Amino acid sequence: MAVEGKAGTLRGREAEITEVAGRISRASAGRGGVLLVEGPPGVGRSRLAEEARSLGRHLGIHVLGGTGERERQRGPFSALTGAPASGGPSLPDADDLRALSEPEELRFWLVRTVEDRLRRAALRRPLLVVIDDLHRCDPGTLLALRILPARLRSHPILWLITVRTGPLGSGVRAALRGLADAGARTMRLDRLPEDAVAEIARDLLGAEPGRDVLDLLRQADGLPLLVTGTVRGLLRENAVTRKGPVAGLTGPPTPVCPYGSVERLLSHLSPTAQDVLRHASARGRELEARRLADLSGRTLAEVVGALQEAVDAGLVLPTEPLTFRHDIVREALREAASNTLPHTVSEAVPDLGSAAVRRRSRRPPTASPAEGWSALTPAERRVAVLVAEGATNRQVAERLFLSPATVGTHVMHAFRKLGVNSRVELARSYLENDAA
Ligand SMILES: Nc1ncnc2c1ncn2[C@@H]1O[C@H](COP(=O)(O)OP(=O)(O)OP(=O)(O)O)[C@@H](O)[C@H]1O
Ligand SMILES: [Mg+2]
Repeated sequence: MAVEGKAGTLRGREAEITEVAGRISRASAGRGGVLLVEGPPGVGRSRLAEEARSLGRHLGIHVLGGTGERERQRGPFSALTGAPASGGPSLPDADDLRALSEPEELRFWLVRTVEDRLRRAALRRPLLVVIDDLHRCDPGTLLALRILPARLRSHPILWLITVRTGPLGSGVRAALRGLADAGARTMRLDRLPEDAVAEIARDLLGAEPGRDVLDLLRQADGLPLLVTGTVRGLLRENAVTRKGPVAGLTGPPTPVCPYGSVERLLSHLSPTAQDVLRHASARGRELEARRLADLSGRTLAEVVGALQEAVDAGLVLPTEPLTFRHDIVREALREAASNTLPHTVSEAVPDLGSAAVRRRSRRPPTASPAEGWSALTPAERRVAVLVAEGATNRQVAERLFLSPATVGTHVMHAFRKLGVNSRVELARSYLENDAA
């Protein structure tokens, strides 16, 4: 069977690319504008921005820009200063720019200088300015993006700016208001349909994906980062075998497959939200705030905030009760926890995972009792006694010189072995039991 395309080909974004190409052509013809590309983590914002850059170069427009993250490292305004500005005022170098843009008054002055350069550059040749990840930009660049697209509206400049969905800081919101004043049109990137997912798999595998591969990929729910992460993981682990034109799974896939991409998805969350999800991963698909507060030793408010973040990032579905959106993410988190912690988190609860993803090995059964205070290991008992006496996980961690994550794992094991569901029940069990 003929295999078209190759790894990295953009799939399933025909409508978006047609619009971007139309906008670039209009800019070439002298009409600028602002296109705001919005979407959740991992949906493919950077990939679309990259495609826009190469389209721009192909269509002969001058392309400028950078990513919010890199701007932070290179210095303020660096995405906007690449335009050749003959005869215009020159800008200080990156270090001076960083120092100069600290006081707000000087920041405004620098924005005027950048404006002048862009104006001159656009008079000579139309510009495409691509800024990936507005939410990661430094305050100077945010100020420039708040002011300049509106001020330079009559110039042949197309601004293509990507931003993640969810709550944003005040500087980013102010920039978005400025972009709206400049007539920004928002393009929302959604998850990809199944046929595009199959095409991406085919591009990466160099073969038609088998039904089992497609079934596994369905768990990515059309999120490009998870789709590519899973296929790359399968290839890395030699978990696919080619039979004729079709590539199928060699055996049951392991949860570590998409782990790199899961880490990247998690990196969009605060450390608290990451920790709460790691604890939750061992408890099945459902996330129950009160229970997670007990397990992680955090306040209910902290856990609720963490879960809201995970919903905003598209990792948790706002169902009643909340549920993990992707089994592969939950499994990968659980597997990682079980590999890094002394007593595996996944041992603590029955395997509630999907049938498609199974653990590769299980520990041999041990002879120690499975229930009650005598079933606790010495470390679990030390932790459980302090918790029963009213200590939070954080206080236990400090007292016993353990990490909060390890304390959380011990608490989880203690709950299971003692057959309790809350810290109050644990305290009651402690009082009732001489063995404690
Ligand atoms: N439409 C697509 N077709 C093929 N591959 C894609 C598509 N969209 C994204 N990808 C690939 O998926 C991965 C994740 O995409 P990308 O980095 O663009 O996501 P993102 O939204 O920028 O993520 P983040 O929120 O982490 O910044 C990359 O390997 C990218 O090349
Ligand atoms: Mg990105």
